[in-house]
Amino acid sequence: MASGFILKGHVLSFSGSPFDGERPEDAARLQEAVAVQDGRIAGAGTLAEMQALLPEAATVDHSGKLIMAGFVDAHVHYPQTAIIASWGKRLIDWLNSYTFPEEMRFADRAYADEIAARYLDLTAAHGTTTVCSYCTIHSESVDAFFAAAQARGQRVAAGKTCMDRNAPEGLRDTAQSAYDDSEALIGRWHGVDRLEYAITPRFSPTSTPEQLEAMGALWGKHPECLMQTHLSEQTDEIAWVRELFPQARDYLDTYEEFGLLGAKGLYGHAIHLEERERHRLRDYGAALIHCPTSNTFIGSGLFDMAGLMAEGQRIGLATDTGGGSSFSMLRTMAAAYEIGQLRGTPLHAAQLLWLATQGSAIALRMDGKIGNIKAGMEADLVVLDLASTPAISQRSERAEDVWEAVFPTIMMGDDRAISEVWIGGRRV
Ligand code: GUN
Ligand code: ZN
Repeated sequence: MASGFILKGHVLSFSGSPFDGERPEDAARLQEAVAVQDGRIAGAGTLAEMQALLPEAATVDHSGKLIMAGFVDAHVHYPQTAIIASWGKRLIDWLNSYTFPEEMRFADRAYADEIAARYLDLTAAHGTTTVCSYCTIHSESVDAFFAAAQARGQRVAAGKTCMDRNAPEGLRDTAQSAYDDSEALIGRWHGVDRLEYAITPRFSPTSTPEQLEAMGALWGKHPECLMQTHLSEQTDEIAWVRELFPQARDYLDTYEEFGLLGAKGLYGHAIHLEERERHRLRDYGAALIHCPTSNTFIGSGLFDMAGLMAEGQRIGLATDTGGGSSFSMLRTMAAAYEIGQLRGTPLHAAQLLWLATQGSAIALRMDGKIGNIKAGMEADLVVLDLASTPAISQRSERAEDVWEAVFPTIMMGDDRAISEVWIGGRRV
């Protein structure tokens, strides 16, 4: 498709962070059209400019709709797809009752293939074009996920979840096998097509100090990789970490001590942070990943978005499927808004949309490639119908600007609001 194509509508891009200035909307730009060629954004501007740029290209008219970068979900567990919305447990009981039994099934490559395909189909239907996923301890689960993403041409990050204690028989590796298996997977997948490996110790309670040390050594040897884990999600969990690591200054220290604190580190949840932890995370430029539907669903607590942004933390947004209760980044933005309200700091629509695209892309260190509409970026795009249901359209038709027009879709929208999705310039 050398001639490319042009999408016409409200094309949303960001020239900076809407958390930086006085008015969030000043960081956003709305243009008339975006041109795509050979899987990349050729440009954005007026329709006439785009037609001059790509004279052979067909124009698809999405007037009234919002065209933006595809959603980037910075923390998910694809193996938990089939146990999403499981009732009544808090974190540790939820892991033992629902998560671990399901994750056992991923020793079977055929089952892993089935769920990986189902997960990527569901998320694409919700407008998500990139995810960063935990897999299970089984290398097969990583192979299945990367193969499914590769077949779809998607940019994803993923890694083998490492656990060598406090997990059932059949779901434990060792310090050495976690190192060896992870390194083999890095060799097999990292940098192939659009795939990136994330070194993945699940969280301190399920790794011995020996395993954390091995993971730190592996990351030291492969600094090109992301590293993802969980941090300070629930107060019971934090108390458990204190018992398991009596020498540690705090939860983050259990990672820091073993070389698992770094700029390419992704720390999921990060709700109940101490002063020292906040300082260290900021000094390293590490990324905190906010998972709002998970935090309310599992009953974890209220992430301090305003305070953490004000002190200059790097923050991404994520569903945390299946601790999170939705595959949708729209629903996730709504939950982030509600948590902001409970803390007295509501987020602007521009901030929510930025978090779900560029914010997460920056967290994943992929912002040079995805998460915004700019010439040269990979063409992962979503077209949002701002009147997808009667409930939404009766509100959005009164809107006086685009932010008021999109906010009902953020709060009430679902996969019906996703008109079109493009991955690497190919329509899904
Ligand atoms: N902490 C350790 N593992 C998990 C997980 O799978 N989900 C959530 N929400 N928190 C975790
Ligand atoms: Zn998680």
